[in-house]
Amino acid sequence: MARNKTAYVCNDCGSEHGKWQGQCQDCGAWNTLAEVRLGPAVAGAARKGYAGAVGELQSLASVRVEDLPRIASGYEELDRVLGGGFVPGSAVLLGGHPGAGKSTLLLQVLCRLAAARSCLYVTGEESLQQVALRARRLGLAADELQLYSETSLEAILAQAVQHRPAVLVVDSIQVLHSEQASSAPGSVSQVRECAAALTRFAKQSNTVLIMVGHVTKDGALAGPKVLEHIIDCSIMFEGGSDSRYRTLRGHKNRFGAVNELGVFAMTGEGLKEVRNPSAIFLNRSEVQAAGSVVMVVWEGTRPLLVEIQALVDESNYGNPRRVAVGLEQNRLAMLLAVLHRHGGLQLGDQDVFVNVVGGVKVLETGADLALLFAIVSSFRDRPLAEDLVVFGEVGLSGEIRPVPSGQERLQEARKHGFSRAIVPKANAPRGDIGMEVVAVSTLAEAIEAL
Ligand code: TYD
Ligand code: MG
Repeated sequence: MARNKTAYVCNDCGSEHGKWQGQCQDCGAWNTLAEVRLGPAVAGAARKGYAGAVGELQSLASVRVEDLPRIASGYEELDRVLGGGFVPGSAVLLGGHPGAGKSTLLLQVLCRLAAARSCLYVTGEESLQQVALRARRLGLAADELQLYSETSLEAILAQAVQHRPAVLVVDSIQVLHSEQASSAPGSVSQVRECAAALTRFAKQSNTVLIMVGHVTKDGALAGPKVLEHIIDCSIMFEGGSDSRYRTLRGHKNRFGAVNELGVFAMTGEGLKEVRNPSAIFLNRSEVQAAGSVVMVVWEGTRPLLVEIQALVDESNYGNPRRVAVGLEQNRLAMLLAVLHRHGGLQLGDQDVFVNVVGGVKVLETGADLALLFAIVSSFRDRPLAEDLVVFGEVGLSGEIRPVPSGQERLQEARKHGFSRAIVPKANAPRGDIGMEVVAVSTLAEAIEAL
């Protein structure tokens, strides 16, 4: 007879161990191993393909590509992050902190989608009344949407098989439990078991499956590695419940590019799309202050204007502080060294704080030059011109390197009324683009041009 086997899986890295131990040998985390019951080996299971059908060999060219149109969510910001809408038969994981607005967003999306196709919203956390109350308060069209309050995986699957929804939302995956697994809801084995079963159903029935996942204290999705290979697309709703703006970012996407950014505003009437995010991140005061520079970052397929601020102040400690918020700390230290060596600015006895306004995270290297300008401006206590925009990567030998999509960045800046730009030489426009562009190739030249 087939025997049930158990394994011990690390919550953090997902590696399997034969016996329980206090520390995961692979990632070094403590107390993260949880018991997972592996199902009995079923005879013939190995012959089954992922979608449950018995597989045959096919040449790539002979694969029939069914033209399954993507399902537009009705929200452009969301569709862009998804790579152009939901793909039928795909599993999407929507992560975020509690209070980020995941339930609100999905309720709004589903109420729109339900007008044209059958949609099922499974709520495991809120009661039906709470969901209905919110829908009424937000003035959503509630007639067509099917609600189901349940946390048992088997019951949800039975309903889904019966009703055949085109879009199935499960809010959230952490509260589901399966009778097949013995551990508590929210544990790795339950989350994995439930996500795998739901995903299998989605693939077989061409359903769009959207699972809500909570984020742990340290910002990771509970059991992220456990789910990562199961799902097709993982998007995160970022931004604390204290800020008005929420950004939606793709982390994995089998059907489109990641690093796309969608911006929403949480208002009294639910989530509203922000079509022109440059305008909100660029809320500048009337008086131009020293240490503030506007740069154009490239987020996925579109430019975004953000303001970078720096404060350089004499340090009271032997070890001056270097603090970067929204930018990378190591990059700041490196750029300060470049500034000293190639720009001739000695900041060894100064505290340096830099910040990206609006809580945006800037990860690209195109922010280097703007960051250095903000520091120089604050150090000299001299405000920069109000209509100046800057971007470019700074190399270790003080050279200014080009960044992708230079023309589009300049056009975005011009659209928002900027008339001067300092950019890398290779990004200089050929013709006249309606603004004064200073092309520089070294840091010394760039500081000269300020
Ligand atoms: P919710 O969607 O419940 O968050 P999640 O499911 O990600 O935990 O969002 C709840 C937050 O959003 C809550 O703090 C209140 C706020 N909110 C508004 O400000 N306006 C609204 O219209 C709604 C519905 C929620
Ligand atoms: Mg919720």
